[in-house]
Amino acid sequence: MARILITSALPYINGIKHLGNLIGSQLPADLFARFQRGIGNEVLFLCATDEHGTPAELAAAKADKPVADYCAEMHEVQAKIAQGFGLSFDHFGRSSSDANHALTQHFAGKLADAGLISEVADRQVYSNADGRFLPDRYVEGTCPNCGYERARGDQCEECTKQLDPTDLIEPRSAISGSTDLEVRETKHLFLRQSELRDQLDAWIDSKADWPVLTTSIAKKWLHDGDGLQDRGITRDLDWGVSVKKGDQPWDGMEGKVFYVWFDAPIEYIACAKEWAEANGKDDTAWERWWRTDKGADDVRYVQFMGKDNVPFHTLSFPATILGSGEPWKMVDHLKSFNYLNYDGGQFSTSQGRGVFMDQALELLPSDYWRWWLLSHAPESSDSEFTWENFQQSVNKDLADVLGNFVSRITKFCRSKFTEVVPAGGSFGEQEAALIADLTKRVRAYEGHMEAMDVRKSAQELRAIWVAGNEYLQSAAPWSTFKTDPEQAAAQVRLGLNLIRLYAVLSAPFIPDATDKMMTALNSDDRSWPTDVAAFLSGLPDGHAFTVPDVLFAKIADEQREEWQAKFSGTRD
Ligand code: MF3
Ligand code: ZN
Repeated sequence: MARILITSALPYINGIKHLGNLIGSQLPADLFARFQRGIGNEVLFLCATDEHGTPAELAAAKADKPVADYCAEMHEVQAKIAQGFGLSFDHFGRSSSDANHALTQHFAGKLADAGLISEVADRQVYSNADGRFLPDRYVEGTCPNCGYERARGDQCEECTKQLDPTDLIEPRSAISGSTDLEVRETKHLFLRQSELRDQLDAWIDSKADWPVLTTSIAKKWLHDGDGLQDRGITRDLDWGVSVKKGDQPWDGMEGKVFYVWFDAPIEYIACAKEWAEANGKDDTAWERWWRTDKGADDVRYVQFMGKDNVPFHTLSFPATILGSGEPWKMVDHLKSFNYLNYDGGQFSTSQGRGVFMDQALELLPSDYWRWWLLSHAPESSDSEFTWENFQQSVNKDLADVLGNFVSRITKFCRSKFTEVVPAGGSFGEQEAALIADLTKRVRAYEGHMEAMDVRKSAQELRAIWVAGNEYLQSAAPWSTFKTDPEQAAAQVRLGLNLIRLYAVLSAPFIPDATDKMMTALNSDDRSWPTDVAAFLSGLPDGHAFTVPDVLFAKIADEQREEWQAKFSGTRD
């Protein structure tokens, strides 16, 4: 049994995420986690809210709440919605946890000991109108790299370049909109990432199997001259992890906190400690996932994230780990995603454009969304959500192909053989051909899932559903029954077993439908079909089942039009 550590990029605490955020990290991570558990591996799947920095402070100010209260509330909200989408985290932690405070300070101490932190008189943007320094997202302006006009002081969303507020052209305060800004000196800590360039370069070169999207972004920022600049890792803010060297005070850094992008990825590790604590386990339980001197050298660690997160995960966070000189597990595979657009434009949290996770669940159960999002994951390029396309996929794939198969076979069996798996008859050539075809397809599906090729996996799963439908269509037990009821019994028996095959294989994509199919089949054996032929005679003759309710309802044109209109504007 292999051990797989999986993390999804930590969603910012600043509000409910939209469907573009969901498909950019949490949902594909969940798909992979469910698959790995399904094939019998040991999985630790971690996620948490990213609670520090300017996104949190700006959102709390907007909500008119103390930032700590705001974060506590939003964490609960996000946790509940994640549950609504079936995101099967082993733990959903908080970057503001004690564990992360301590570990962040620990890393800073180790980096300082290694001579990798310098104290620098830094130039920071100061707003006269607001009477304060404006770090990171407190400043907006035009990106010097690509000209995007709504770039934020920490990073340009458009071209992924990491920025400094002083880089922005025509900067303005995100608090007041004021352009009465000046640059003042204040002392900050800098991580000397440039010292680690060769080590990082070699590490990235060792990852030959990484997707091009990942390595090209990493290499670009590594070799782009300023890509691996030393970075300020402290800020003049109140909310965050206070600057300390381990548990010791740091002279001259009183009242400052670490930069959110310094402490957030450390929460990947701290979250494992939170998980252990929440489950009454001791340190060895989480260290065997994270310390290569304590068993983690045979862990496979996979990270999921949107493309804008790649520089932080391929350069900054690895620099923290390598620089510490300690034996922490580093990422083995980093799966990154392009953006999902919404109906001719971008999803946008700040502008409230698109469908947000809570709204989606009010319209339809999560499986509908999971299926569409995963089968249209923005892997090789950006992809687009349109209501027409959503309606079409749901109606065709889920209702016509899968749902219809389940309903037809169970209802036919009930009417001719009662609600038990019928005995008699035997499999002929047609059945042998189907089993051979399915065996091939199940192996292909596993291959795509293992490689995290999300769309290809969805396509293969759909093809597996279609194969069953085509068999049913051509075997036509309703005709066979008239002349050869024994033969029809064998066909129906295979059909019922196919439902169980679909239930088990589809669980990573549509877990609620899986539960319904398994309940209807009166079975809870979810062991993976390593031997498809054997699996397809798994339900014994005479085994009782019930006809399930409709698995997936079709989306009517009027519904689609109503939703289209409802979500054409922006949310406040
Ligand atoms: N909160 C960041 C975002 O949404 C992602 C943080 S990932 C972490 O873009 F590793 F740094 F936590
Ligand atoms: Zn840009």
